Amino acid sequence: MINYDITIHTRDKQQVSFVCSEAEDLLSAADRESILLPSQCRKGTCGACVATVTAGTYHLGEVSMEALPEKAQARGDVLLCRTYPRADLILEAPYDYNYIRFERIPEREAEVMDVTMVATGTRRLLLRLQPDEQGGAAEFEAGQFMEIQVPGSDARRAYSLANNTNW
Ligand code: FES
Repeated sequence: MINYDITIHTRDKQQVSFVCSEAEDLLSAADRESILLPSQCRKGTCGACVATVTAGTYHLGEVSMEALPEKAQARGDVLLCRTYPRADLILEAPYDYNYIRFERIPEREAEVMDVTMVATGTRRLLLRLQPDEQGGAAEFEAGQFMEIQVPGSDARRAYSLANNTNW
């Protein structure tokens, strides 16, 4: 498998680099190296991971036209979660360096405690986090979200945290 060097320049003229194979999307490759770039859906639908390729070739997978219109694609905009390198790439990100976090995504297990139908097509899901070395709570700050994935499935969905910043 061929690996490529990926360099992303941030709006404040700093940069971050990682390696990505031709079979991996850029967002996942960055994750693997504990580089958390702004993103949400990871499915090419929200547009949160947009960046602009300024050098190199790539394959762009299926994306929502609302998230990445053809005009944007024509000027080199890509969604990192749907971009597969075919050469070393240089990109420009529309955010500053301090928007990037350098850590692994914390993974927690939770137990479904209750499912309640609250309206047609809407269910309330009550989850209890399994305790880990941090205890039974989760630390988060304003603007953060969590993704819920069913074990044994690739399906996952992002949810905003409505509470105040807390544990
Ligand atoms: S994370 Fe939503 S489009 Fe890439």
